[in-house]
Amino acid sequence: MATSLDLFRLDGARALVTGASRGIGKAVAVSLAEAGCDVVVTARTLGALEETVRDVEERGRKAVALAGDLGEAGVTARLVDAAAQALGGLDVVVHNAGVTPADADGGMLLAPLQELPEAAWDTVMSVNLDATGALCRAAHPHLAESSRASLILMSSTAAVLGAPLLDSYAATKAAQVSLAKSLAVGWARQGIRVNAVCPGWTLTDMTAFASEVAPVSEWLMAHVPMGRWASVEEITGSVLFLASPAASYVTGHALIVDGGLSVPDGGLAGYAKPPSPLAS
Ligand SMILES: NC(=O)c1ccc[n+]([C@@H]2O[C@H](COP(=O)([O-])OP(=O)(O)OC[C@H]3O[C@@H](n4cnc5c(N)ncnc54)[C@H](OP(=O)(O)O)[C@@H]3O)[C@@H](O)[C@H]2O)c1
Repeated sequence: MATSLDLFRLDGARALVTGASRGIGKAVAVSLAEAGCDVVVTARTLGALEETVRDVEERGRKAVALAGDLGEAGVTARLVDAAAQALGGLDVVVHNAGVTPADADGGMLLAPLQELPEAAWDTVMSVNLDATGALCRAAHPHLAESSRASLILMSSTAAVLGAPLLDSYAATKAAQVSLAKSLAVGWARQGIRVNAVCPGWTLTDMTAFASEVAPVSEWLMAHVPMGRWASVEEITGSVLFLASPAASYVTGHALIVDGGLSVPDGGLAGYAKPPSPLAS
């Protein structure tokens, strides 16, 4: 007998997950495999994807790794078409790859907009925004062929809250939410659902600059009503929901997964906050 839990299954679906070498994207790829998807995973190098491929295959599903830098012109469309070719079509596309401004050593560059080097702005725009547009354009014909098409953009609470010192990043994440809403309406009658997921502070390499520095972590978590970081597994459930038939009537939604961070309490909750280690 079929149960409501079966609505979360994606048996035989063909999925593409970008930025799946680690962090949220890797966990999403594994979760989709557990739900029954074959998965194409992408990152800049094939070597970085080995563990994800192994984890997907261990769950009895097909995994295909494709390498390419989404910041380079033409790469995103090539990867999407290659993914569709590898799996014979696409039903689920999770565009997860994303970057923050980086310093010369590749570390996160926190800087007010007026001090952000133009090159850092350009990189964030090309990887986070231009590649998102290119991916959606390239994925459209493949998803239009599917009877269970779902496109999910990995945005951020920065889209709704803003993010001083990460202004460029926040602008691209807000653009992803806007694009998801526009495409959801534009593609609804073609049977393609489009949604965004907006994680809050999640433990990955991207946030190690804060999670691994006790005073910074403590300061940031003081602003999260649940008072702690999310694990990557706590983001995957929302992606799986939006990808699956459980969300068959959900489109144009930005699903916030942030432990309450984006809920303004006006100070009424009265959570104690330590002095900011970020204040200059
Ligand atoms: N962690 C958080 O707190 C948080 C919160 C809100 C939203 N998000 C969003 O969630 C997504 C994943 O974040 P994460 O924390 O898991 O990040 P992460 O650990 O830094 O992983 C980023 C992924 O994107 C890939 N990537 C980076 N630059 C790329 C490029 N130029 N071309 C192709 N692939 C590239 C990386 O692959 P390689 O480096 O191996 O190429 C990696 O697989 C991002 O869109 C991020 O904005 C994260």
